[in-house]
Amino acid sequence: MPYAHITGWGMSIPHKVLTNEDLSKIVDTNDEWIRERTGIRQRYIAAEGDTSSSLGVDAAFKAIMLAGILPSDLDLIICSTSTPEHIFPATACLIQDKLGASNAGAFDLSAACSGFIYALNMGAQAIRSGSVKNVLVIGTETLSRFVDWTDRNTCILFGDGAGAFILQASEKPGGVQGVVMHSDGSGGEYLSVPAGGSAHPASEFTVQNGMHFIHMDGKEVFRFATRVMAQATQEAVAKSGWKIEDVSLIVPHQANSRIIEAAARGLKLPIDKFMINVDRYGNTSTASIPIATIEAIQTNRLKPGDKVIFVGFGAGLTWGALAAEWSGPLPSEHLLSAEWYKPWARVRSVYRRIMRVLEGLFFDRDA
Ligand code: COA
Repeated sequence: MPYAHITGWGMSIPHKVLTNEDLSKIVDTNDEWIRERTGIRQRYIAAEGDTSSSLGVDAAFKAIMLAGILPSDLDLIICSTSTPEHIFPATACLIQDKLGASNAGAFDLSAACSGFIYALNMGAQAIRSGSVKNVLVIGTETLSRFVDWTDRNTCILFGDGAGAFILQASEKPGGVQGVVMHSDGSGGEYLSVPAGGSAHPASEFTVQNGMHFIHMDGKEVFRFATRVMAQATQEAVAKSGWKIEDVSLIVPHQANSRIIEAAARGLKLPIDKFMINVDRYGNTSTASIPIATIEAIQTNRLKPGDKVIFVGFGAGLTWGALAAEWSGPLPSEHLLSAEWYKPWARVRSVYRRIMRVLEGLFFDRDA
């Protein structure tokens, strides 16, 4: 049975910074309150031209290049997002087209802030089953488009960004190990975007009542999060046959530094075992774990051979944890970099659109 190794990674962050000071000019809040209650100092906000797929593609290209593969080597693209560009087509398909990933299946996965853990597990299990070899897993969000900028309870928390991992099959032991995924839909109302789906399609009423924005009961979510983080970590450690002392680094979902501190207390671990960067990015939902992981690599806190735990929670309610032995790139078979693929992918997309029009004109008109 092949192992699923994490062999490439990339992230994409919009340019525009929104500080707590900036927010205090929009809603009745202040830097001190936000820092004390959440640990957040600033977050990044998507520019008009940025979308969940454009951020996702940027992160994905970096991951593909690091892994030394080509977009055409991908068998599967899983895009975890709570802010898809449309109900359908899937954002994963938009990304597939922009990458020129001509051999990949593509689908979106919706598990809110736990989504990256769910998506990594789905990708890893597809590799373990032997059905695919190369999987791109993306977490991408443009949450700023769903935030009510008059609601100080929520607008201080969220930010935009994307992160991507490449998973590759190898006979060498390592990579993704024990994983746990949990859900409890009875708590669904604590964190939701009530309208825009089939329960409440868009109408004048839903728009006037702000039902397309994020609604949250912060206290309930906080209570839930502090309960499940340590528990899920312990479950993933046990499933991997490890001891908690074996773990080099825990990369938690970045929602609130107080939630991460509670998890550290629950696990009786020092806080420096945890990667924390919520101060600079806010809560980027499903993108937060890959972004924090990449910063851990860049600051030398995560190295090949290390045992790492990813742990998250979010709307649904969902939560989960994934244990991995950190790998790094496998030896590449390609002499060419995926860089040259970027213009080619655009040409390929235009070509396919033209061919579709021509096919419609000349063939199957009466079919
Ligand atoms: N600025 C200033 N004051 C604020 C404020 C803001 N942005 N937001 C709320 N307040 C006020 C409240 O109105 C309340 O005032 P009152 O006592 O006069 O009624 C007071 O601050 C305390 O509010 P409360 O909601 O009890 O604060 P809290 O300590 O629970 O912190 C959260 C609020 C949202 C930061 C916290 O509950 C939290 O982080 N929850 C988890 C949210 C989360 O992670 N969501 C995403 C999950 S993936």
